[in-house]
Amino acid sequence: MNEGHLEIPLFRPYEKLIAITIRGKKFQIPENQILLRAFQYLCPDTIPYGRYCWNEECQDCRVAVKRPGADKVTQALSCKLIAEEGLEVQELADELTRNLRRLFLPAPEETPCPKESEARSQESGGKQG
Ligand code: FES
Repeated sequence: MNEGHLEIPLFRPYEKLIAITIRGKKFQIPENQILLRAFQYLCPDTIPYGRYCWNEECQDCRVAVKRPGADKVTQALSCKLIAEEGLEVQELADELTRNLRRLFLPAPEETPCPKESEARSQESGGKQG
């Protein structure tokens, strides 16, 4: 008898990405996912190592959200809430804030390469001809 590993897919089946906002910044995530799994999609290097129970006990995944069409913000557990198009995540529990920090870091400034003529000029000590 073959005792192979039982493979459980990480994400629920999805066909498209949907837009949500987290602290005012827009992100694309797979549809049909619980919000914590969607966070994992965005930060696969930190969320799996967070101290989450994934079963509504620890409260470390708590978020304040505004659902599409709602006029007020409500508390929710991201391990329970299904993310939907237009969901606004306004506040994050401390553990989530730590694990999602990378999403809010400023983009590193790009240092433009000097134009070829400028580079040649610098190589020859700034003298031309
Ligand atoms: S991950 Fe523990 S309550 Fe949601």
